[in-house]
Amino acid sequence: MPEQQGKGIGKALINQGLAQLKERGAEGFVLLGEPEYYGRFGFKALPIKDSTPADEVSYHTAFFE
Ligand SMILES: CC(C)(COP(=O)(O)OP(=O)(O)OC[C@H]1O[C@@H](n2cnc3c(N)ncnc32)[C@H](O)[C@@H]1OP(=O)(O)O)[C@@H](O)C(=O)NCCC(=O)NCCS
Repeated sequence: MPEQQGKGIGKALINQGLAQLKERGAEGFVLLGEPEYYGRFGFKALPIKDSTPADEVSYHTAFFE
């Protein structure tokens, strides 16, 4: 909601998500969002491990509901 934006919630969610991915040993992930915002977190290409993962990516079904 607009009144909740700009309070650091987005930043906290992103950092928590990254921490969870690292805990799970994820090789990588794909993020869909505004480059102007997410770019400040390094999402242009943010490696978690040394290797670069490659696989097929699809939208979650929630995008079509
Ligand atoms: C974009 C969004 C997820 C950020 O979450 P948030 O809790 O407001 O973000 P934070 O409080 O952690 O960070 C706020 C900072 O991000 C900046 N920001 C917010 N939206 C931005 C955007 N679309 N592009 C660039 N910067 C943006 C703010 O200007 C602010 O900058 P500052 O720290 O220099 O003052 C949230 O504002 C939102 O959902 N907006 C509406 C939908 C949207 O634009 N989504 C785009 C992502 S898919």
